[in-house]
Amino acid sequence: MAIRKIRTMGDKILTKKCRQVEEVTPRIRQLVEDMLDTMYDACGVGLAAPQVGILKRIVVIDVGEGPLVLINPVITQTSGEQTGEEGCLSLPGKSGVVTRPNLVTVKAWNENMEEITVTGEGLLARAICHECDHLEGIMYVEHVEGEIHDVEYDSEEE
Ligand code: NI
Repeated sequence: MAIRKIRTMGDKILTKKCRQVEEVTPRIRQLVEDMLDTMYDACGVGLAAPQVGILKRIVVIDVGEGPLVLINPVITQTSGEQTGEEGCLSLPGKSGVVTRPNLVTVKAWNENMEEITVTGEGLLARAICHECDHLEGIMYVEHVEGEIHDVEYDSEEE
């Protein structure tokens, strides 16, 4: 188990676009394991590689249904709309209201380089959008409607 340091807003790495993963090597698998450990340790529901300082297109998500690993994710379909609170492990203790699609389909590799297609609704759809944004160097604060505010109790952070 290895916990990596989570970069916080203000760190330039969070504004950079990530590179495609060409092959899932043992090193990439280790990174994925560490990202999961880091996400669970921080009680988050999602984490993207740039948040641990790696500019690769990898995200991990767990909205309570078990770990989901998405390598080179591409959102292929979205529908509907949801408006709600969103947070980020790179901006601890804060949240803001963001509107996202309510249904999202994403195509990616899993950690075994197998192509997978996942359709998520509600929180999972939100997490997929949020994490894919990180790969483009975009933080959720760019989408926030109104003010970023302090979280008063433990909520999910991505
Ligand atoms: Ni985030």
